[in-house]
Order: sequence, then C-alpha cells, then structure tokens
Amino acid sequence: MKHPIRRLASQRVRALPASGIRRFFDLIAATEGVISLGVGEPDFVTPDHIREAAIRSIRDGETHYTSNYGLHRLREAIAAQVERQRGVTYDPAREILVTVGVSEALDLALRASTEAGDEVIVADPSYVAYAPAILLSGATVVPVATDAAAGFRLRAADVARAITPRTRALLIGFPNNPTGAVLEPEDLAGIAALAREHDLLVYTDEIYDRLVYGAPHRSILDEPGMRERTVYLNGFSKAYAMTGWRVGYACAPAELLEQMMKIHQYTVMSGPTPSQFAALEAYTHGEDDVLRMIAEYDRRRKLVWSRFNAMGLECFEPRGAFYCFPKVSGTGLSDEVFSERLLQEEKVAVVPGSAFGEHGAGHVRACYATSYEKLEEACERMARFVGRLA
Ligand SMILES: Cc1ncc(COP(=O)(O)O)c(C=O)c1O
Repeated sequence: MKHPIRRLASQRVRALPASGIRRFFDLIAATEGVISLGVGEPDFVTPDHIREAAIRSIRDGETHYTSNYGLHRLREAIAAQVERQRGVTYDPAREILVTVGVSEALDLALRASTEAGDEVIVADPSYVAYAPAILLSGATVVPVATDAAAGFRLRAADVARAITPRTRALLIGFPNNPTGAVLEPEDLAGIAALAREHDLLVYTDEIYDRLVYGAPHRSILDEPGMRERTVYLNGFSKAYAMTGWRVGYACAPAELLEQMMKIHQYTVMSGPTPSQFAALEAYTHGEDDVLRMIAEYDRRRKLVWSRFNAMGLECFEPRGAFYCFPKVSGTGLSDEVFSERLLQEEKVAVVPGSAFGEHGAGHVRACYATSYEKLEEACERMARFVGRLA
C-alpha cells in the first residue's frame, strides 16, 4: 500500500517522471568492480590553488552571506571572462547573478519568464534536467528531434516547424549532453533569426563551452541582436572540475535578471561563500588547468570514439563536452537492455540514450571523463560484449 502522505505531494511534482538515470545508478551502486562511464562529471579533482583559495577565505573569516547577486569581485571576473570569451559586455552590478550551479540559474530563468501554458522548445535528446525544469515552471516542453545523420545538431528548419503562437522560448544546450554535438554557424544564425522574427527568449546553457575539440565554441550570443533576448548560463562545474562546489551564474539584460534575482533572493539568498572565492580564483588563475584538462579529454575522446566504431557501434564524432553517443540498435538490443546486460555481463556502466528523450533511444551515452587506462579496459570489455551479440 502506498504511504498516504504521497497524496499530499503536489500534483505537478507527482506527474514528473522519475529520472531514468537514477534507477540505473542504483543498479551500478549495487554491482562491484564496475567501470563507470555513467556519471557526467570530471574525474579530476579541483585544482589545488582553487581549493586553497576557498580554504584561505574560510581562515580569513569570510563565512557570511555575500550580496544576493554574489561576491562583487566574482561578478567582475565573470564579466571579464564573458567579454573575453564572447565579446559581450554585462554590467556586474545589475546583469550578472551568481547561482547554485547552472542548475539553479536555469530554474530561475524559466520561472522568471514563463507563464502556464507557454511552450519552450528544446532539442531531443538533451540534458535530463531540461524537461523537468520546464514542467516545474508551469510551461510546456516542445521537443525537437535531432539525429545522428545530422550530427545531432538542432537545425533551424526543424525549430521553425515547432514554433506556434504559444512558443515563448528556446532552451539550447550545446555542446550537448548527451550527444557531444555542437552547433554549426548556420544553425546559430538560423535559430537567432527565428528568435528575432517570433520575438522569443533564448536560454543558452553553455556549461561545456570550453570543452570543444577543433573549431572554437560559438554561441547564440555571437549573433546580432541576441544579447537583448538571451539568458546566458554558465558555471564552473565542468571546465574547472568543480561540480561539488555548486557555483554557476546567469547573465541577462537587467530588467529580466532583476526578476530572476527576486526568486533567488527569497529561495537561496546567496551561493556558498567559500565556493564563490574558489570560483574567483578559477577565473583569475585557472586557465592553464582548463587547457590541461581539455587536452586530456581530447586524448580520451579519440580513444573511445575510434574504439566504438571499430567494435561496430556506429558513432559520429563528438565535438564537445565529454560524451560519446554510439548507436547500439544494430546489436538487436534496445538501449536499456544493452546497458543493463553490459553492466551485468561485463561490468561497464553506460547510460541508455532514452533517458535523455525519445530520440535518444537506440543509443547509449558513454562519459569519457575517466582515466585513459580505465577507458581502455572498458572498451575491451565492451568489444567482448558486442562480439558475443554479433
Ligand atoms: C548540460 C548541463 N547543464 C547543466 C548541468 C548542471 O550544472 P551545474 O553543476 O553547474 O549545476 C549539467 C550537469 O551535468 C549539464 O550536463
């Protein structure tokens, strides 16, 4: 019998499906000797000097709330970084908000700018939290299919077909989790043109902007007229190996940021203070660390991508983030059964692609943010497994 208190939980939250990944992670936790390509976070520990900066701040007695907007010096460093990376200027006093990861920033952006029944367009497959965050804001998710044939790019023509009079915004997250896809300049130009034509807001999650291999990252912010209709989301979790510190930020025109700030002020107050000092150090002295980690991810990326293709799992070249997204439907197994049997029979954990949306089905996500040696061993085991299925 269900515990009766469940009835008291809100209808909106009860209607949310539980994360497809969570059940899988429970399985992983219960199996010994697993090589996990499952969790999407850096294997690196946060660089020493960044950890030291946080420890120093605590020793110096910096243990109070910061401004609701975040530490002013950190906002200045963010403004400088965004200007350097994107050539776009934001006022640290009114247009930058330090949040508890990109996760909070996305939630604030959605809640501050959508009404019940508004439609938000999002690529399918995408990061597992996008659809729930949209639903929790009261808006409706409108998935737009992407596929391997087009390198999982979100193409403007497909977005155009999804626009209705109720469309309020586009949520784009490229480099993409789970596919590793990046957008081409023509995709960005086309999507920006649609946003301008239909007066849409764009939330752009660029948490993986530094983790690109080959062409430099391009952003929707690079497109003319987009600064005024974009909420730019970024953070420290991936490029600086700082997932546990919980720092991210949003940049947006002051009139919108002020609305996001109200929700932040009443629900969170301010991001963790030592973490903000760590983030400040990351943006002022962390560039060499980022370059070192990118080089290592690139080496690993080439290994898993070539091994997957060699073992018969067709895989397009991932150009960003730290994920490979090979097709497994050719083995005759669904992505869920493939992942479950791979875990049971060879103790390698990958995530079923369908956890990221309907159009992720038939693929699995393999995160290569783990050591080269472990990746080699995981590929051996996978090749053995796939060989048995053939
Ligand atoms: C695309 C994407 N956005 C946001 C996040 C969450 O970022 P943060 O740790 O800054 O909350 C993740 C984490 O996996 C992600 O993959």
